[in-house]
Amino acid sequence: MITVAGATAWAASRVGFLSGSSVAPRPMTSQGGVLDLSLAAQAGRLSLAGRPAALYSYNGSVPGPRLEIRPGDHVRIRFTNRLLELTNLHFHGLHVPPSGNADNVFLEIPPMESQIYEFTLPQDHRSGTYWYHPHVHHSIARQVWAGLVGLLIVRGELDEIPEIRDSDEEFLVLKDFGLHANGELLTPDPTPRIMQGREGDLVLVNGELNPTFRISKDGLLRLRFLNASVARYYRLQLEDHPMYLIATDGGPIDEPFEMRELLLAPGERAEVLVRGERSPGRYRLMNLPYRRFNMGMMGGGGMMCGMGRMRGTTISSNESVVLATLEYRERERSLALPSRLVPVEPLLNATLVRQLVFSHSMMGMDGDAFTINGSPFDPERTDTVVKVGTVEEWEIVNGGGMMMDFDHPFHIHTNQFQVVSEDKRSPRFRAWRDIANVRMGGSVRIRIPFRDFPGRTVYHCHILDHEDLGMMAVIEMRS
Ligand code: C2O
Ligand code: CU
Ligand code: CU
Repeated sequence: MITVAGATAWAASRVGFLSGSSVAPRPMTSQGGVLDLSLAAQAGRLSLAGRPAALYSYNGSVPGPRLEIRPGDHVRIRFTNRLLELTNLHFHGLHVPPSGNADNVFLEIPPMESQIYEFTLPQDHRSGTYWYHPHVHHSIARQVWAGLVGLLIVRGELDEIPEIRDSDEEFLVLKDFGLHANGELLTPDPTPRIMQGREGDLVLVNGELNPTFRISKDGLLRLRFLNASVARYYRLQLEDHPMYLIATDGGPIDEPFEMRELLLAPGERAEVLVRGERSPGRYRLMNLPYRRFNMGMMGGGGMMCGMGRMRGTTISSNESVVLATLEYRERERSLALPSRLVPVEPLLNATLVRQLVFSHSMMGMDGDAFTINGSPFDPERTDTVVKVGTVEEWEIVNGGGMMMDFDHPFHIHTNQFQVVSEDKRSPRFRAWRDIANVRMGGSVRIRIPFRDFPGRTVYHCHILDHEDLGMMAVIEMRS
């Protein structure tokens, strides 16, 4: 079934709410090699897709301000916590130190206190689509759900390719929300909803319902996607238009790769080019159904019975939804696709194989039931020690669990990796990533170069409810 959301947006705007989420802020761009800004996490009432919404935001907007930097830039963020609970900042995907006051997720900022976050982006940092969000264990899902997400763009080589420089560019932050009629956030019931990971029925792009993006006839449009949802997957399809993938989580790939569908797990990013090659009109960007878990008797919200594994099927995100509309402009432009992008050097030698098994137990009602290699997260324990300067090969196995099975998007901080096989098949193209989806019953092999920065950080499942229920571990990089 197709939900046409536009009519609702129109109706809502008639009753006097502003459309869109507050006012879209201007990007904050570095000047003369420095990005210096103030950022506050705060609670408040906003207008979200024409509805009142009690949310958390960075500087009053959802998503938060877009930050734009370049390799070599120095970033200094005067961060203030105006919430009544602990929070902090994580710079997802950046290759910067995980220690001190840089990308340190072990820092926790108490209510009404401030912290200066500071780092220098390496000169050789890859350009790409990154993001920031809070990272306090047990609160990440709830705080991201409430609106604390923002884009962090690194401009660089990809932006300088002539065809890309000349294309139109749009940013699409994909995030769902669940709201009561009075605008209060819906809180999912402890179980099974939390174990599945929370999803909301308001599926928005940049906090807007079915926004329109414009493309020139024969022109190129660069779409930069971020899946900023807690648990929802997006299986994107653009009506009558192929998408040419140009970048993944870790930046550009070798050459454009044609796709009819693009799957984005929570936390994942991708950039595509679209050519205005059809007859002028309006085309829909769809989110197609994707099954990310199987479950037994808990499916109908009923009781669990202890008869072992019963695999009923409940499909999450089981309807196609219109996310946005692509509309042709009057103006024509003639732009060809670029043939080469930025080389992704292969990682040929890996020093050792580790295996990580992601699984869960039934103790989820009160404790941490989601584990990596049998243990839930403990910030005091160091699970993995690696040496800076080495390349390791890891196998990540989806070990399943009682009654239910889930996909788990694996994510690691500080260093990007390359996938070498996914369920025993090699990937269709080489790419740098920081998220790899591990399918139910499947496994993924990756190679990670540990570069530059010693320190302690984490890897985890990016279904943020799973992370908060324990599916995270500590890695220490030693020099
Ligand atoms: Cu998106 Cu550990 O983070
Ligand atoms: Cu991260
Ligand atoms: Cu998971």
